[in-house]
Amino acid sequence: MTTMTPLETVPTPVPEENREPRSSVTELMGQIAGTGGDPQRGGYTRPVYSNAEVELRGWFIEQAERRGLSVEQDNNGALWAWWDLASGDRTGAVVTGSHLDSVPGGGAFDGPLGVASALVAFDALRDREELQALARTKALVIAVFPEEEGSRFGVACLGSRLLTGAIATEKALNLKDQDGNTFAEVASMYGLDPRFMGPAPDRMAQLGAFVELHVEQGLGLGELNQPVAIGGSILGHGRWRLGLTGQGNHAGTTLMEGRKDPMVAASRLVVAIRDLARHTPGARATVGRLNLVPGGTNVIASAVDFWLDVRHPDDVITAALVQRIHDSGLLVAAEEGCSLTLSQESLSPTVTFDPGLSARLISSMPDAPVLDTGAGHDAGVLAGHLPTAMIFVRNPSGISHSPEEYVEDADAELGAAALAESLAGLLID
Ligand code: GLV
Ligand code: MN
Ligand code: MN
Repeated sequence: MTTMTPLETVPTPVPEENREPRSSVTELMGQIAGTGGDPQRGGYTRPVYSNAEVELRGWFIEQAERRGLSVEQDNNGALWAWWDLASGDRTGAVVTGSHLDSVPGGGAFDGPLGVASALVAFDALRDREELQALARTKALVIAVFPEEEGSRFGVACLGSRLLTGAIATEKALNLKDQDGNTFAEVASMYGLDPRFMGPAPDRMAQLGAFVELHVEQGLGLGELNQPVAIGGSILGHGRWRLGLTGQGNHAGTTLMEGRKDPMVAASRLVVAIRDLARHTPGARATVGRLNLVPGGTNVIASAVDFWLDVRHPDDVITAALVQRIHDSGLLVAAEEGCSLTLSQESLSPTVTFDPGLSARLISSMPDAPVLDTGAGHDAGVLAGHLPTAMIFVRNPSGISHSPEEYVEDADAELGAAALAESLAGLLID
């Protein structure tokens, strides 16, 4: 692997006889099935720059290099595996790929399916005669974006946000994980240099289109009895942090009257959030992460911090809902003798994928439905900068961010074939 600090290099391709034979998606997914399994939560816990995620990065680099791809790690920690043109010209490069990090106790497919499918799609493309040397006019690059889930540092799609400048570099570097380590510290421990992190306009200028394949995170395809879909839009979504402060005290000696218990305030507010979202058609609001300070069985907490995830197709309605939640929180906090703070951590407006690129995908997959998604993706961040599209693969459980997430082997192969077909047209433009 080469790094982009300070110079990009184009290594010599691996000779044909030493190259990895074609793999199936199922084989590739099988190779990483033992990495990052979480015995407590079930499923996989692969936070960015954890041992598990770093191991998966190593797996990807090895797979890409065996295929003769030229792998770089950029200054923000994203991996780029290039199938270059003989000329070395990367103008208008076609990008595919996804992420390898996971939520705590997540499923096997969210992220890795897009990466494995990209490798398999490359295998198919490499073998296609019309794409050999002269016919192909665009470089292909498989990208792996770090911290897509934001499960370690709180901001989703951190890698693509840094790349595109969608987050201020200083803010990103100062984000903290649960142990109080800053992103800058963790990235440095991994070998990145925070001084070089941030927007990469030169890289962005090379990219012509991005097609991300992803497991479907709902039952749309199951209900339509179809294996693959084309992405229509991504629901606008944001994350906020709430802090309730009360008075820490003894569970036995403090009478029920006069307590300032932030956990009681938090509980009331969580229910209020659910009710407010239910009264806002199309909205989703979730509290999925909550931290009690100090967190003792016989201790009235002194503070409770929690995260709020709100999504709605209309960003104005999202803002209004968060305002109502804040107002409600202030009221509850006052009634419980506590104080409340609320701060926005990230906001991603609703994204509609590029109509031209999506139309090309539709023409190569005429039976595939177009489905919107409530989940965020790096494709959503990149959509503001280059034509972007997504392919979803059926998930019969309809469940995601949970060990029950599932993809049938046959559907995984169909997804990779659909991805290859979509990329083929773009590579000979
Ligand atoms: C990422 O999967 C998200 O939608 O939060
Ligand atoms: Mn994902
Ligand atoms: Mn996810």
